[in-house]
Amino acid sequence: MDALKIKGDVKLNGTVKVSGSKNACLPIFVSALLTDEVCVFRNVPDLSDLRYMAEIIEALGASVCNEGNGTWRIQAKEISTLAPYDLVRKMRASVCLLGPLVSRKRKARVSLPGGCVIGARPIDLHLKGLRALNCDVSIEGGYVNIDASRLKGANIFLGGRHGSTVTGTANIIMASLCAEGETIIENAACEPEIADLCLCLQKMGADIEGISSPTIKIRGVKKLRGVDHTVIPDRIEAGTWIIATIATKGKVLIKSIDKSHLSSLFDVLKNTNCKFDFRAEDLYIDASEAKILPVDVVTMPYPNFPTDLQAQLCTLSCLAGGISIITERVYPERFMHIAELLRMGADISREGSSAIIKGATPLSGAEVMASDLRASAALLIAALCARGESTIHRIYHLDRGYDSIDEKLKSLGVELKRVKI
Ligand code: EPU
Repeated sequence: MDALKIKGDVKLNGTVKVSGSKNACLPIFVSALLTDEVCVFRNVPDLSDLRYMAEIIEALGASVCNEGNGTWRIQAKEISTLAPYDLVRKMRASVCLLGPLVSRKRKARVSLPGGCVIGARPIDLHLKGLRALNCDVSIEGGYVNIDASRLKGANIFLGGRHGSTVTGTANIIMASLCAEGETIIENAACEPEIADLCLCLQKMGADIEGISSPTIKIRGVKKLRGVDHTVIPDRIEAGTWIIATIATKGKVLIKSIDKSHLSSLFDVLKNTNCKFDFRAEDLYIDASEAKILPVDVVTMPYPNFPTDLQAQLCTLSCLAGGISIITERVYPERFMHIAELLRMGADISREGSSAIIKGATPLSGAEVMASDLRASAALLIAALCARGESTIHRIYHLDRGYDSIDEKLKSLGVELKRVKI
């Protein structure tokens, strides 16, 4: 298994370009199953998660071609309605297949995704939405079976204990596109990744209103067509570079960033004495005089502070002069990074779904284990700030969400080595 050895105590310095958004691209890839025409997607990040989703789509019968330079061409002339366990188990986002299969084939048999280290991650809201659309839904032998022969538009409140659901919203939007009549989704996820999916679907001929709002209205259409769509930049990758720059007191030009997607992060960072210079789609940060302050942050669905930056903010808070409280409302158990940060000298305790972080204890390099994608990003930032060398094991987690991470870090002056252990 690959591990990353990183020399710490470095100030990031240079230019880095943010890749396309993983979480926008995953449902956008499956949207190609909605039509028999050619779909071209651009600015697709080079990530194991996307390559895996491409394999799943191919296994369902589509022809998939990676044309290089972030451009993928997918055509699903004929597709099967069965997504077996072997395909689905490695990729939670494959639950997004339900929407397109229901819409195009009126039938789906998709293996249920298994557990996940960041929480239980049920799909009850996806199924509630599909049932509201007049689908017969049953679970048998680990599979979700859907008979959508009587698919019909409906009013759906798509919320649960933790608020809205991102992939659930993607699924119900895609399922309802060709349903008879009108569908209104209330408490729809407002994440930019859902808005980007909707823009792509509109280009395919979908009739969608209320994009980026919690109330999305869809009028069923007869057929969808092919599309040429460029995916938005990854706001979580951008946020990770911003936090890493501040944590290392660096000077970095971050290219291809949509600052409107990161308002909650900029709000948290507003008194850090960093210079943020926005230039069209780029951001120059001078954090050489950064004063890292303690925070009191709660993660919640967009536009609030994203759970996908919680772990990285935990690391930054280890460097603050004071006590921070970071509360996780989306995935209350998503704190696997804490135990590893403790091994690097951090002082963090957990009170239920909150992390209490006593800042200003110096971090020192250590061997640590990545448990999931964002936890690995938190360990990476810690390794950059720590005295001495760190080894991050199971780095494949990081590769799931950060395109060309080794090259990007090297171009910012980081000394690192990928080793097989
Ligand atoms: N939930 C339910 N029932 C459901 C669906 C969700 O109770 O049917 C709960 C979840 O357990 C969680 C909350 O609702 O507590 C939000 O879950 P959501 O469905 O929004 O998450 P998701 O769609 O499975 C996406 C991202 C995650 C990101 C979350 C939250 C993709 C492929 N994944 O997951 O990204 O953390 O939204 O923003 O879009 C990551 O990139 O590292 C990652 C985990």
